[in-house]
Amino acid sequence: MNDALTPMMQQYRRLRASIPADTLLLFRLGDFYELFFEDAKEASVLLNVALTKRNGVPMCGVPYHAAQTYIAKLIKAGRRVAVCDQTSEPQPGKIVSRDITQIISAGTVSDLDLLEAKRANYLGAVYAADGLFGFAYADLTTGEFRLTQLQDRQALLDELARVSPSELLVSDEQKTQFKDIAHALGSDSYAFLPEQAVFTLCEHFKTKSLDGFGCMHMPQAVAAAGAIVHYLKHSLRRKIDHFISLRCDAPGDYVLLDAATQTNLELVKSRNSREASLLAVLDRTVTPMGGRKLRAWILQPLRNLTELERRQQMIADLLQEPDLLASIRTELKSIRDIERAAGRLSQASGNARDLVALKSSLQRIPKLKAELQKLLDRLAFGVDRVREGEKGESLAQRLQHEIQEMPALAEKLAKALVDDPPLALKEGGIFRDGYYTDLDELHQASRDGKNWISHLQEREIAATGIKSLKVRYNSVFGYFIEVTKSNLANVPAHYTRKQTTVGGERFVTPELKEMEAKILGANERARQLEYQLFQKVRDETLRELGSIQQTAAPIATLDVICSLAETARLFRYCHPQLNDSLRLIIKDGRHPVLDQNLVEEKFVPNDTSLDGENLRLAIVTGPNMAGKSTYIRQVALIVLMAQIGSFVPAESAEIGLVDRIFTRVGANDDLARGQSTFMVEMNETSNIVNNATERSLVILDEIGRGTSTFDGLSIAWSVAEFLHDKIKARTLFATHYHELTKLAEERGGVCNFNVAVREWNDQIIFLRKIVPGGADKSYGIQVARLAGLPKEILDRAKEILAHLEKPDGAIEAPAAAKPQRKKKATSAPAKPQLDLL
Ligand SMILES: Nc1ncnc2c1ncn2[C@@H]1O[C@H](COP(=O)(O)OP(=O)(O)OP(=O)(O)O)[C@@H](O)[C@H]1O
Ligand SMILES: [Mg+2]
Repeated sequence: MNDALTPMMQQYRRLRASIPADTLLLFRLGDFYELFFEDAKEASVLLNVALTKRNGVPMCGVPYHAAQTYIAKLIKAGRRVAVCDQTSEPQPGKIVSRDITQIISAGTVSDLDLLEAKRANYLGAVYAADGLFGFAYADLTTGEFRLTQLQDRQALLDELARVSPSELLVSDEQKTQFKDIAHALGSDSYAFLPEQAVFTLCEHFKTKSLDGFGCMHMPQAVAAAGAIVHYLKHSLRRKIDHFISLRCDAPGDYVLLDAATQTNLELVKSRNSREASLLAVLDRTVTPMGGRKLRAWILQPLRNLTELERRQQMIADLLQEPDLLASIRTELKSIRDIERAAGRLSQASGNARDLVALKSSLQRIPKLKAELQKLLDRLAFGVDRVREGEKGESLAQRLQHEIQEMPALAEKLAKALVDDPPLALKEGGIFRDGYYTDLDELHQASRDGKNWISHLQEREIAATGIKSLKVRYNSVFGYFIEVTKSNLANVPAHYTRKQTTVGGERFVTPELKEMEAKILGANERARQLEYQLFQKVRDETLRELGSIQQTAAPIATLDVICSLAETARLFRYCHPQLNDSLRLIIKDGRHPVLDQNLVEEKFVPNDTSLDGENLRLAIVTGPNMAGKSTYIRQVALIVLMAQIGSFVPAESAEIGLVDRIFTRVGANDDLARGQSTFMVEMNETSNIVNNATERSLVILDEIGRGTSTFDGLSIAWSVAEFLHDKIKARTLFATHYHELTKLAEERGGVCNFNVAVREWNDQIIFLRKIVPGGADKSYGIQVARLAGLPKEILDRAKEILAHLEKPDGAIEAPAAAKPQRKKKATSAPAKPQLDLL
């Protein structure tokens, strides 16, 4: 069979075999990238291009100049793409040499079009051993590299939901174990072996051991981290010099938010497409780095009181000096994404524009620091001085120290680069005049030559007497002299004819060709020289990579703090008091999202008062649509905001720090994973009762709804008892099971609340106010009327309700109804439920 293969196909086969089977190979053929065999069948569908056949080989292709768009489509479809380019000039009778020049995957793209500016793009890896799960993740665009170890599969899933890697490596041997995890791709098992991983990492970081990173006792996590480095360096052939350190995440430092809670509270993404997530209403960051950090903070709130108070203090200080808040934000606006610029440069995918972005940002840093200094100076005069002295360095001081100026680099770049260089690196146009003598001389030579040519026309007209003689240029012939037909007789003998056109003829002279060669030679050498200079300047810049990364981080933090301060200023948030108690006291709290987004009515604020002792479980009842869900979520969001250091939408708040926030909210089908509504509900509930502690905050929205009334009520009842008696977590429980209000009579820490409504002429008016006591009715029928259910149905429903509420619970069939209905409808009477419990 091999004999029949053309040399090109042999080349294809060899290259195809050198990359993983699940990677699509784009093979450069002339002006196209072609895909063959199975790759072609798959890509033609994904890209919507025609599948053809040549010599029985299925193939499809895309034009090379539009390749980026097609590659982007394949990446978005979750595929990895290898690009094979021609590495020699075509020569007659010889096959062009080709090699794989890039392998691109979702977790490793550096193309800006495929990236979201305000969102990190992570490549992750997991490794399971001895019942523990190691997880590592890296953002190739910035060099962030972290690892953590998790106790069980659920914790891993929660962490994966938070980080949401675009690509996840799993050891080939463990593929089946992780097959249901999104974006999981098998990878060389060998790279995950703990000893191998330690070796890979030590080699990369040029260290003897990993002790300095504090991850000695996390072999699974180290295995995952090692696999990431191996994959990037060896499978994808990437440069990762900008991975300069490895950070261990200790779960105990953060408020754990399980996957369900991240979605239920709509932290970074809202369920409906409207911009209604917590992130969307809080984000007033002005740099991409700040945007990414705010997102990370929201998904990973802190438990460290001192650090939280530092953040709060800085927000408070900025609110006291609104003019400085405004001027610092203005300065921040001119700082570009230096983190990603540095990342691209160190992967050799950066260009001169990245250097210019870096330069212009570095030039603004002194001004930024000057504004921050003004804040520090003003505070130094204020009453805060004593308090700050006690607590050590304030956040503002720390940021001021950490943001570095790098004036030498800024000046070097400013001297070297033009303000608006091209994207291309080999076309010249990058460096300023006067930066490099040799380059100036080449430019001068080129200019002199062009000058000489531009005067040639005059000289030749004078010499030949041909008034219409023209010196022109095109890309095929270069420079030439054009003479019209009527003047051909006067053409001197030393002109060499090159081409006849409709109107005349084109000539060259030896001196013209000589000058042209000089110009072209100078241009070519200038282009080469510029490319070399670019590489040199890039390398010099990268020597400061560490400083650039260390400056990007505090700038991002400053941006987030200013953004939180700005939001607090605009919406009059209060400074919550944080402590180690189990209290949760909020006066006039508002839902941060509805507070900003409600248009028709004004948001009605509500109080919360749990003390962890006499009141730790609040049962919230009330009619449909009254505002129960809104209220309990608002409490969770306020606590979460407080634990990222933010101010909160309330008049005042005292919050005893929480260790985890759990939510069980609404019907959340997971049909894709074969789980029914009820099953999802019970999974979430069991996660809560198994993992919540006294320090947790639990939000339960109608558990037990997905099953029969009896079963549901019984489960809800016993879960509430368990949370109150055993776990003692602060809990808010919204429910339509009014029977649950009885719990308050038996248990000291349970209290009833309801959302007040007023009834008026059979209509219901929502007051949105939380008041003590249980509700007695659900007003479901009135609410159904608001939704436009036909009158006939509503009337009949009222009739049925009236019967159900009678002691014997019997329903009489209306005249038209069939007798057997009667039996069915009586099967779930309301009253006996109370007797049962
Ligand atoms: N405090 C408030 N101020 C103003 N509007 C509110 C307030 N609380 C809720 N709302 C409005 O009422 C709507 C319904 O609230 P919510 O979903 O919380 O009701 P619910 O009591 O949970 O209803 P159900 O029992 O049907 O689940 C919200 O979408 C919001 O528009
Ligand atoms: Mg609700």
